[in-house]
Amino acid sequence: MRKLLLQLDSSRLPSVFDQVVAYDAGADAIMSYGGVTEGDVRDLVHGCIFTRGTKDLKNTAVWIGGNNMSAGEQLLAMAQDSLFGDFTVSMMLDSNGSNTTAVAAVVKIEQAITDLKGKKVVVLAGTGPVGQRAAGLLARDGAHVVITSRKPEQGEKARQFISARFNVQVESTTLTDPSKLDEVLDGAEVLLNSGPAGVQMVPNSAWTRQKSLKIAVDLNAVPPLGIEGVEVNDAGETRDGVIAFGAFGVGNFKTKLHKQCVARLFTRKDLVLDAETIADVAREMAATQNA
Ligand SMILES: NC(=O)c1ccc[n+]([C@@H]2O[C@H](COP(=O)([O-])OP(=O)(O)OC[C@H]3O[C@@H](n4cnc5c(N)ncnc54)[C@H](OP(=O)(O)O)[C@@H]3O)[C@@H](O)[C@H]2O)c1
Repeated sequence: MRKLLLQLDSSRLPSVFDQVVAYDAGADAIMSYGGVTEGDVRDLVHGCIFTRGTKDLKNTAVWIGGNNMSAGEQLLAMAQDSLFGDFTVSMMLDSNGSNTTAVAAVVKIEQAITDLKGKKVVVLAGTGPVGQRAAGLLARDGAHVVITSRKPEQGEKARQFISARFNVQVESTTLTDPSKLDEVLDGAEVLLNSGPAGVQMVPNSAWTRQKSLKIAVDLNAVPPLGIEGVEVNDAGETRDGVIAFGAFGVGNFKTKLHKQCVARLFTRKDLVLDAETIADVAREMAATQNA
């Protein structure tokens, strides 16, 4: 039976990137819808669950993407709400790659520092979708997570969202210019840059003088890179005594993880892949050296 993926994308044009990866992961056909809103979801999902016998529903799955993470979360909630009884299909949320990117970074950090309990982790520009997901997962590992934002109200909003979504406590601090980095990074063992593409967030001198720092991860692949001195292809290189990961160093694992998750959607009909469950898949892959 053909493996069918229903792509619900909150953006006007459904992501071609997500389609290519889904084909590479084993989907036989993708039914793509763009500009999907909450009100559209029930009928589209019912089109999946009423057409094949309930035993065959593992061959149909739902993918939720788009540029906007909170819109994606609403679509996922609605899609889950549209299922009942035996009429279920597996689904995955990865708006703009935020879940798989955040998880890939978090698992690289977990591999480098096995016990994160009580360790200070700074997530720079942790108000975006990737940073929020990463901050939540790292706090679930027991880390003392500090997210930064340029704007106090934005930081506080993200802090509240992360705390509620992941049932954790995180701290938020305002970072308007690099001169405050010494204070923000003081005592930090992990630095994760989730700032936007093409913006340098940390000059070399600011992180190399932090003697507590053990790992630095930069998710920005576009020059200038986010952490000066961490190269885009770094995948565990030691730089100034710090284990470094650049955007491609994390991104290669992210792509494998993305494919593995899509493949798993077609192994059962009740899988819901969001940050925590995607992290479970990634940790399993890391344990089998497939990272
Ligand atoms: N490898 C992959 O597959 C992959 C996938 C997705 C994302 N990424 C990368 O991961 C990173 C995070 O992605 P994202 O979508 O979460 O990021 P984002 O939403 O574009 O930006 C994150 C935060 O950066 C801050 N920011 C925006 N402009 C800034 C500026 N000029 N200077 C300093 N801070 C600024 C904003 O926070 P405040 O307004 O609160 O300060 C924003 O919430 C990006 O570098 C992205 O390219 C990689």
